[in-house]
Amino acid sequence: MYIVLEHPLVAHRVTLMRDRNTPPKIFRELVNEVTTFLAYEALKDIRTERVEVVTPVTATTGSRIADDVVVVPILRAGMGMLNAMLDMLPSAKVGVLGMQRNEETAEPVTYYSKVPLAKADELALVIDPMLATGGSACDAVAELKKLGYRRIKFLSLVSAPEGIAKFEREHPDVPVYTAARDERLNSSFYIVPGLGDAGDRIFGML
Ligand code: PRP
Ligand code: URA
Repeated sequence: MYIVLEHPLVAHRVTLMRDRNTPPKIFRELVNEVTTFLAYEALKDIRTERVEVVTPVTATTGSRIADDVVVVPILRAGMGMLNAMLDMLPSAKVGVLGMQRNEETAEPVTYYSKVPLAKADELALVIDPMLATGGSACDAVAELKKLGYRRIKFLSLVSAPEGIAKFEREHPDVPVYTAARDERLNSSFYIVPGLGDAGDRIFGML
């Protein structure tokens, strides 16, 4: 299952991100903002519990987040989405997966993994701006399943149809939340129209 955020506030920001003249500082701010919208959508069903609270006027009941959450950025570009996720979920743990696509084949290579073993039914949120061929996303989720995670969601800014299709085949139990479903991949396995190299744009390596 995949969910595309259909909202003018999101579309406006994705268009600004696409613009090759958008400088890294603004690009990072847009990544933060769109990630916040993704979190809003993806966490609609996060578990909550009732709590008592006393307002300046009276005692009442409210709710607070009860789920344990682990946020897992895929290095390097996934780091660009991390601050926005932690702003929304300040108590979340962070696990890190380092993955790099081979420039010719686009096959992902995992070079680093520091993700806690799943505790009970913790929710894992994998974040990466780009879902292109889907190789990195599929390998990342397979790694989390090996570590015992059973409740996983994948959040991306821009996704290619090819990557979504592969991901749905390999991980039909994991929903994808994305701000844009683009047209296709090009011969270099870049998303068209896409954002270009998201990591380079986040980290100013232009
Ligand atoms: C990019 C992106 C994803 C991956 C997507 O990372 O951030 O991790 O490519 O491509 P895929 O769907 O075809 O696997 P990249 O490997 O370029 O590394 P980087 O984050 O260090 O730039
Ligand atoms: N990685 C990127 O940063 N951009 C793409 O279009 C594909 C993979």
